[in-house]
Amino acid sequence: MKFRFALLLSLSLATVVHAEDETAAETWTAKCKSCHGGDGKGQTQMGKKESVGDISLPSWQSTHSDAEIRQVIAEGSTKNRKMKAYKDKLSAQQIDALVAYVRTLKKG
Ligand code: HEC
Repeated sequence: MKFRFALLLSLSLATVVHAEDETAAETWTAKCKSCHGGDGKGQTQMGKKESVGDISLPSWQSTHSDAEIRQVIAEGSTKNRKMKAYKDKLSAQQIDALVAYVRTLKKG
């Protein structure tokens, strides 16, 4: 019985984690992809026009902390106003999930 409960618990936990991953991917597709691209390289029409950097680069990833990424998503960029503040549009949890999602875009 104990084992079964543990199994059930870990299965439902796995589902929760997976659901969060999916939500971040969906948020990215809905709100970020138009400028940053599905791969984070910024090779979209808007991305090219605004010279959006390639956030999949290991050199970008290693020089930006989670806190900095969270800040730019929540408050927007002071360098380019096209990167808007999302703190009124997204929950803190959604922003955290996006920070984690941005990390998954890293390409070696
Ligand atoms: C209308 C176009 C546009 C959309 C939509 C957009 N961004 Fe950006 N983003 C930009 C631009 C332009 C920059 C470059 C600003 C800069 O250099 O600071 C940027 C920069 C960034 C950076 C890097 C900042 C840095 O310090 O290098 C991150 C991370 C980022 N955006 C995440 C997101 C996320 C997450 C979303 C979706 C919630 C999003 N962006 C939606 C245009 C956009």
